[in-house]
Amino acid sequence: MCGIFAYLNYNCKRERKFVIDTLLNGLGRLEYRGYDSAGMAIDGDTSDQILIYKEVGKVRALRELTEKSVSDPGHIYETQTSMAHTRWATHGRPLPINSHPHRSDAKNQFTVIHNGIITNYKEIKTVLLNKGYSFESETDTEVVAKLMLYIYDSMRGNKMAFHEMVKACCKELEGASAFIFKSTHYPGEMVVYRRGSPLLLGIKTEKKLTADFVDVEPITEGMVEIQEGSVTDETAYARRAHTHLFSDTGDEAPGVEYFFSSDPSAIIEHTRRVLYLEDDDIAHISAKGDLRIHRLTRNDGVSSIRSIKTLEMELAEIMKGSFPHFMLKEIYEQPESVVNTIRGRINFETKQVNVGGLRNHLSSIRRCRRIVFCACGTSYNSCIATRGIFEELTEIPVSLELASDFMDRASPIFRDDVCVFVSQSGETADTIMAMRYCLQRGALCVGITNTVGSTISRETHCGIHINAGPEIGVASTKAYTSQYLALILMALQLGEDRSSMAQRRAEIIKGIQELPEKIKEVLKVDSLITDISKNELHDQKSLLILGRGYQSATCLEAALKIKELAYIHSEGIFSGELKHGPLALIEESLAIIMLMTRDSHYIKARNALQQVIARGGKPIIVCNNEEQDISDKYRKIRIPSTVDCLSGILAIIPLQLLSYHLAVMNGVDVDFPRNLAKSVTVE
Ligand code: F6R
Repeated sequence: MCGIFAYLNYNCKRERKFVIDTLLNGLGRLEYRGYDSAGMAIDGDTSDQILIYKEVGKVRALRELTEKSVSDPGHIYETQTSMAHTRWATHGRPLPINSHPHRSDAKNQFTVIHNGIITNYKEIKTVLLNKGYSFESETDTEVVAKLMLYIYDSMRGNKMAFHEMVKACCKELEGASAFIFKSTHYPGEMVVYRRGSPLLLGIKTEKKLTADFVDVEPITEGMVEIQEGSVTDETAYARRAHTHLFSDTGDEAPGVEYFFSSDPSAIIEHTRRVLYLEDDDIAHISAKGDLRIHRLTRNDGVSSIRSIKTLEMELAEIMKGSFPHFMLKEIYEQPESVVNTIRGRINFETKQVNVGGLRNHLSSIRRCRRIVFCACGTSYNSCIATRGIFEELTEIPVSLELASDFMDRASPIFRDDVCVFVSQSGETADTIMAMRYCLQRGALCVGITNTVGSTISRETHCGIHINAGPEIGVASTKAYTSQYLALILMALQLGEDRSSMAQRRAEIIKGIQELPEKIKEVLKVDSLITDISKNELHDQKSLLILGRGYQSATCLEAALKIKELAYIHSEGIFSGELKHGPLALIEESLAIIMLMTRDSHYIKARNALQQVIARGGKPIIVCNNEEQDISDKYRKIRIPSTVDCLSGILAIIPLQLLSYHLAVMNGVDVDFPRNLAKSVTVE
């Protein structure tokens, strides 16, 4: 739920102001992960001093604090390590004292930043309190800083290596976390550890990395090889294997900068060379600037190879451009993001679908006895949206699971099940837990994510990257339409051996081809939606959204967007359920939106309309351009018609825009709605 970032430079001169700006810019990119307070730890005038700055609020507030409080911004570091954190509160209110970095004591002997949750922190705290250590915050993280000091004190002068201390400390911790450690006792060194929360390393140096690789010593037990590889070619690792970078060559060590981050968006402007850490990796940068990766436990069966990959995203992809908010930019990117989802995967001439990430597992998936879709929030809604067409094209029963509820029930999973985990971030804790649960039970696991290198994309057997591009706005928009489309691609590919479906498949593939242009057309309703938001809906207390069939998921997704962004109570209701309860709510003053696109459910949707009108309701109707049969008394939002199973992609767009404009009118910080975070890495 939080963002962590560290910047280190070795053998290259950097001003203190440069270091602070680098940290603040990194945090700015990670702010979507949490934004109720921020903090940083930097070296003092010598690297055995640590200075800590923390402020409640967004990164902007920390910037103002450092501008006021940091002395000697022109101070030059030849070598330094620094770290910063943006917080989404889990344990302890958003107060400066609860913000990270946390420290072991007033001398800042050990400082730590953390993303995740330590489930056994109370037990550790009790032990440490009994040993006389005192605490200043309400957080789980502070126990880690104190535990490091306790380990250090117990060594009684027999100093162990920094990474060995971190290993001893992390062995005591339970939960899902990523940590960065800094210490006055280990000047110029930094150690990081991950288990269950994302963490990657960016490497920047003037010299070519491959030339700097050196075969120094054989891999020893408990260490990891670092290799050169490519993100697009996961298996083709490079020429030479190395236990570590940049050391013991006898040559002058090259100037090198390192960046640790929760995600690549904070690294890409500095370097494209990254190394994703695996669970239980401990990465250690020594005072000379060399990198080694150790494992928490030896011989644990995890691959002992980490490859340095090249990031392929563009910084421009994660910038706002001319849009006032990332969310609006991301809504407007959809004509392009859906093209990126299908790029190279459909041959429109032959009507063939070929999703490379599934290729080797198609026959196993086709043989399974059921498919389980598992996800949270918007990603779950994409599963609801596509379940019908999936079942129709594959004739395999599909069940839907909200990841948290699935884990609460510990639902039975069998070896012949196929479990599909849909997650924009690929880091949602509930979905990861569910994935690991299914992996343990021998099910074939498929990941559908928007984040290359994320936990879900790495740990599943196969999957699809939806390629929607980075989504920064906390509310998911373009990832939803791309997830929706990716699931349809999967269904089309699985169903291609069924000749009875050939015509239906061809119709859908043609619909997909036309989709980008139709999305562009839908986006033209923006000014109408602004008008509806301003004149009809922004002061409403409650809003119902009704639809059925292919639009059921649209109702749920639109209601979720309106709740999380405009802070207006909103409910998505399957219109078939109207008469089973919700009808009692309908009266003239209640705001209602009804989805009435033309498909096989249209007649039934009209019945629902009659039921609403008969109770004095005045719904706003989302319908197709050609619609003539609904009275002009009702405000209409018109969208182009398309194949039934794709209509949810077009219909959600005006409602994404509606939630955006309502949020702006209600003064909400659209990209950072209160109490939410982009990547929910806690259960
Ligand atoms: C809402 C939203 C969330 C996420 C949910 C799962 O706009 O974005 O509901 O969909 O937290 O996140 P991912 O897809 O990253 O697993």
